[in-house]
Amino acid sequence: MNTREMFAKAIKGGYAIPAFNFNNMEQLQAIIKAAAETKSPVILQVSKGARNYANQTLLRYMAQGAVEYAKELGWEHPQICLHLDHGDSFELCKSCVDFGFSSVMIDASSLPYEENIALTKKVVDYAHQYDVTVEAELGVLAGVEDEVSSAVSHYTKPEEVVDFATRTGCDSLAISIGTSHGAYKFTPEQCTRDPKTGKLVPPPLAFDVLDAIMEQLPGFPIVLHGSSSVPQEYVDMINQYGGKLPDAVGIPEEQLRKASESAVCKINIDSDSRLAFTAAVRKVFAEKPGEFDPRKYCGPARDLMEELYKHKIINVLGSSGKAE
Ligand code: G3H
Ligand code: 13P
Ligand code: ZN
Repeated sequence: MNTREMFAKAIKGGYAIPAFNFNNMEQLQAIIKAAAETKSPVILQVSKGARNYANQTLLRYMAQGAVEYAKELGWEHPQICLHLDHGDSFELCKSCVDFGFSSVMIDASSLPYEENIALTKKVVDYAHQYDVTVEAELGVLAGVEDEVSSAVSHYTKPEEVVDFATRTGCDSLAISIGTSHGAYKFTPEQCTRDPKTGKLVPPPLAFDVLDAIMEQLPGFPIVLHGSSSVPQEYVDMINQYGGKLPDAVGIPEEQLRKASESAVCKINIDSDSRLAFTAAVRKVFAEKPGEFDPRKYCGPARDLMEELYKHKIINVLGSSGKAE
């Protein structure tokens, strides 16, 4: 399904839909098991990198298979959207629309404002003919985005959002309020340090900017990218078993919970799943150096990801039971 009804219900109900990236079978199985067990609507996201890694045809049919798998798990009416994450050209978005995706993102946020509008509108005009919903982005997230990296974020300007949404006709808007991609969302200089644990404490998100955007566009679906919380238990596990992720830090879950209650109705999480996968695999490798059956380390990775997804759904986004 596309995101229209999902988002309308999420805004009304004060929760957010999880948008989880997948690149392989174990991630997809874990996402579907978590969504089926909690009866949560879910967005399966495929990035350009995922398409290159896993092949777009395979991913698309895996997603279709996932719907059947969800039914097998006892979820009678699965609410699953297949979404292109960070589409960077009309051609890529068109190819996903033509290929059966139910939603696409056109991320032209690194272009000048008028060019962002023109490209977004072109994608919207095409996608809407097929009832495919379109996410756009305004503002720049710090970190790496579409192979364009920016050391600093530029918050979305609330005074631009009405003009942007009206002229493009987009269905949802990704905004910049201090989140960023990856496992290093803030530099140590941007944080304070907890004297007891020595862990970094990140600065708060710019909720004033979010409030101003919601005032301009009441009831309009807002999306948060870069919303992994970088769970310290996974970081510690990775470091304990030979990894090296010093000072990795994410968005505190309380802030995501607060955002979920607002017009933020889609929250993107990818890095946390990568951390869970890596932590579980490293543990097996460290504890059982003789193990060479991939099922013996991908299996535990899948279990840990499923636990993570369920936790996000139930305790952070509040989407549990919203797709009965
Ligand atoms: O926003 C980026 C997502 O985490 C996807 O990352 O381009 O490495 O697949 P990727
Ligand atoms: P994270 O890197 O915080 O998981 O963000 C993922 C994302 O925004 C995908 O589009
Ligand atoms: Zn993103």
